[in-house]
Amino acid sequence: MSHTPNSSLPPRILIVDDNPSIHDDFRKILGAKTAAQSHLEDVENALFGNINKAPTEPIGFRIDSAYQGLEAFEKVKKAVAEGDPYVLAFVDVRMPPGWDGIETLSHIWKAAPDLQAVICTAYSDYSWDEMTQRLGQTDSLLILKKPFETVEVLQMAHALSQKWALGRQAKLRLEDLDRMVRQRTAELHASEERFSKAFQASPIPLAIIRCADGAVIDSNQSFSTLTHRSAEELRGKTVADLKLCEALAEIQPFTSHTRLRDKSCTMRRPDGAARQVLISAEPLSLGSIPCLLIIVEDTTEQLKIEAQLRQAQKMEVIGRMAAGIAHEFNNLLTVIQGDVGLLQSANPSQLDRQALLEQIMQASQRAATFTRQLLAFSRKQVLQPRTLDLSELVARTKKMLSRLIGEKFEVKVVCESDPVSVCADEGGLEQVLMNLALNARDAMPNGGIVEIGTSAVTLRESDALRNPEARAGRFACMRVTDYGSGMTPQIISRIFDPFFTTKDVGKGTGLGLSTIHGIVKQHEGWVEVTSEVGKGSTFQVFLPACDNTPTETKVAEKQVAPAEGKGEIILVVEDEVAVRELACMALRKRGYQVLQASNGPAAIEEWQKCSHPVDLLLTDMVMPNGMSGGQLAKELIKRNPRLKIIYTSGYSPEILKQDSILAQGINFLPKPYDLTALLKAIRLCLDGGRLPQYEVRSGKTQTITTVVS
Ligand SMILES: Nc1ncnc2c1ncn2[C@@H]1O[C@H](COP(=O)(O)OP(=O)(O)OP(=O)(O)O)[C@@H](O)[C@H]1O
Ligand SMILES: [Mg+2]
Repeated sequence: MSHTPNSSLPPRILIVDDNPSIHDDFRKILGAKTAAQSHLEDVENALFGNINKAPTEPIGFRIDSAYQGLEAFEKVKKAVAEGDPYVLAFVDVRMPPGWDGIETLSHIWKAAPDLQAVICTAYSDYSWDEMTQRLGQTDSLLILKKPFETVEVLQMAHALSQKWALGRQAKLRLEDLDRMVRQRTAELHASEERFSKAFQASPIPLAIIRCADGAVIDSNQSFSTLTHRSAEELRGKTVADLKLCEALAEIQPFTSHTRLRDKSCTMRRPDGAARQVLISAEPLSLGSIPCLLIIVEDTTEQLKIEAQLRQAQKMEVIGRMAAGIAHEFNNLLTVIQGDVGLLQSANPSQLDRQALLEQIMQASQRAATFTRQLLAFSRKQVLQPRTLDLSELVARTKKMLSRLIGEKFEVKVVCESDPVSVCADEGGLEQVLMNLALNARDAMPNGGIVEIGTSAVTLRESDALRNPEARAGRFACMRVTDYGSGMTPQIISRIFDPFFTTKDVGKGTGLGLSTIHGIVKQHEGWVEVTSEVGKGSTFQVFLPACDNTPTETKVAEKQVAPAEGKGEIILVVEDEVAVRELACMALRKRGYQVLQASNGPAAIEEWQKCSHPVDLLLTDMVMPNGMSGGQLAKELIKRNPRLKIIYTSGYSPEILKQDSILAQGINFLPKPYDLTALLKAIRLCLDGGRLPQYEVRSGKTQTITTVVS
């Protein structure tokens, strides 16, 4: 129960004395304002310098009387219970027959510890030491010798009641302060609990590390789950000790300015398992200690799903592609099989044999073109790169392009005057230009202008940022613009897929742009597309610039029949029976001696059986029985270092690269080859010449698309 005294009432004083006349004396002195009281106030003001005190009319004290110690004790208890406690008690020392003053006080103070007391005594019943021994050290006790002076009593009453009031105020204030501190502490605890719980319960892995040494101060449950380490295992260990991830190691030493945003890296668990994460770091101070809040996002599952999606998309494209290839080849095979069937069954005299053979030849040539396109798309096309001026190439092909797309169109060439050098395959770039021009034509059914331009461009890092596949550096750019139908973003997102076409059946195979895509990637370049429906499209092809001076344009070789063989021995190694038979037949007819084998070991056997040295090995690159063309050549060269070798493949000489024994500069004859090409190649090599050199590039950059709205 609180003992808030009623401040509007005068202070309450208890007189404890067995002599009733003493009570009267006290009442006279303290009960009302007296001349002595006024005098005392003046003295008080003079003493304590209380000159600014408002001139209030002083009020007397409220006086109660008790004639025995026990009675006094009861009154004090009651006053405390009523919330109107006594401020001061004047207590006589001798009060027979009951408690004396000291004993009375010892009881009273238990009920009212703040009570100020004055022991009134005529004799020296107790020494001060005796009193303090019984009552304990106290500053609430004074001694008043009887007979007492009025002024003395008043002075004591005023001073002690004021002391009591001040003490009470201080106590209340302290209680207030204490309450406030407790409340603030509770609030702080609540807030700390809130944040601590939020930190701990967060599904985002979080940790706090000290900048000074990189030690983990705190971490949450999700962080433990991610790293497979308990909070105890993490606490106190440094980032370096834990070998958590390189991204954090890289940004050390940590400072109060260290900041990191979504840095992709691999996080290792103690068992070596890896998680792909995005890691962020934000500086914060704990007290005066600079720390970093580490926020981690586990992207492992997301990346897995993305990879699965990409795989699914790839499978879809492959499916579409397989269907497209089957469709094209079935058409061609129908023609070939039909014609051959006719030649076999019908009376030859009734048939135009020549026309049928011509049809078969055309169908097989179309099939060859088709496989070339597929190789270009898969970036396995054989390249013959040389330094050439892109502007010159465009100028030279302009006539051919005009013829190709027809009279309704004007081909406008806007080229840079200085050479725009690239190291590229001329035929490949012509194919790119042709396919782009044909698409431009198809986008403008009523005719129009097709603009073709070239320029040398230097891309800075900031330019390259625009497109994820672009990169900084010097590039040659080839542009083809039309003002035709344009494309929607949906169409643009698919145009480089093989067999994607919006054209009518028979009008387009959907291989044009995928071929371009393959060729450009093989040249380590990329394609950018801008298009607007109804306004037209621009295709920009970026190729790495080259500093060399352009070399001479290839002059078309004269179609002369290759020279006859002079009985040289040729070893033909080919697992495809039909191809092998054809090659052998042609070589024999042309005056060569031919040995043949379907694989490497069989070829070595043939070689050993032959009594004369073999002059030339014509070998396929990929063969059964575990021996590649390269391995076979290596074996045979040991036996005859002057052996001439021609490699052939329907695939790409890239396979040769896997054959470490084969350096650059080999003779390579790509399939399909016609017999004239074969005979020419054989003759050239036997006479000490070299076949054109090929190069296969894998192409690191992607084709990219952008839309201008
Ligand atoms: N310049 C262009 N303007 C509008 N649409 C275009 C343009 N170039 C390509 N396209 C769109 O991209 C699709 C794919 O083009 P791509 O060249 O790969 O195949 P295609 O032209 O349909 O057939 P192919 O080139 O094999 O004969 C086209 O069918 C067309 O929808
Ligand atoms: Mg096309």
